[in-house]
Amino acid sequence: MVRHFLKDDDLTRDEQAQILDLAIALKAAPYSQKVFGGPKTVAVIFDKTSTRTRVSFAVGIADLGGVPLIIDSGSSQLGAKESIADTAKVLERQVAQIVWRTYAHAGLEEMAANSSAPVINSLSDDYHPCQLLADLMTIKEHRGDLAGLTMSYVGDAANNMCNSYLLAGATGGMHVRVSGPAGYQPAANVVERASELATQNGGSITVCESAAEAVTGADAVATDTWISMGQEGEKAQRIKDFAGYTIDTELMKLAKPDAIFLHCLPAYRGYEVSADVIDGAQSVIWQEAENRLHAQKALMVWLESKR
Ligand code: CP
Ligand code: NVA
Repeated sequence: MVRHFLKDDDLTRDEQAQILDLAIALKAAPYSQKVFGGPKTVAVIFDKTSTRTRVSFAVGIADLGGVPLIIDSGSSQLGAKESIADTAKVLERQVAQIVWRTYAHAGLEEMAANSSAPVINSLSDDYHPCQLLADLMTIKEHRGDLAGLTMSYVGDAANNMCNSYLLAGATGGMHVRVSGPAGYQPAANVVERASELATQNGGSITVCESAAEAVTGADAVATDTWISMGQEGEKAQRIKDFAGYTIDTELMKLAKPDAIFLHCLPAYRGYEVSADVIDGAQSVIWQEAENRLHAQKALMVWLESKR
């Protein structure tokens, strides 16, 4: 039966580990898998802007022997003119997989429900699971086994990245601590699901308002923009609300001395992170950005193997 990847906990702990191991193997041997040989085509659809996702999927599909078909949805019929279900029925007959960056997560569920080709979420308002595969791969490269490590996230704890840190970290058996101001905390259903996974896998979930509490003793410290795509109108209010949540050298000192700093990018220096942290010795952001390529290739190879 076809498998889709819409949110982090669509993978079991073992499946997540298999994909991360395959990603590390593909990084060492980038042209060793040709699952899209033919060549087969993969549709990569964007309702929102992107640099990393666009490049890493295009390059990754080509590396796997396939052809990336990049579609900016504004130039297609998808959305106002044609339903998601009808679009899925057209695409599934012609492309090997469908990668989609969109707004409402429900749209991805509708695409997946109507497609016999695997559907990959390359960011929705609620989750960014491809980014988490890259982040976990990066942590694994620095620290080995994920189980038992502490991964902390500070900032907009109600956004897609925070939800994915909670679910993906809990799937991997990690201790996930997230911190954000009142009004920017994760939804109860996400915390509940992450806690259930953490209990199953030997990790734990902490949600708090104190950035210091979240970061103390952490192995990896992460943040993200305070203003996600679609929230541009709230910029002035959000900058006020997030005062005190910048990851700076003082906050990083509370983490383990060899803790790594992660950011999915794009970053806004002086807001969610200070320039000296993101451009400093503990930052692994370029490795993390490169790992999008390797992790997504592993995901696409794995999804092909399940068809
Ligand atoms: N991190 C990430 O998804 O970057 P893009 O928005 O550039 O794709
Ligand atoms: N939370 C950010 C992530 C960007 C990759 C957004 O949704 O805009």
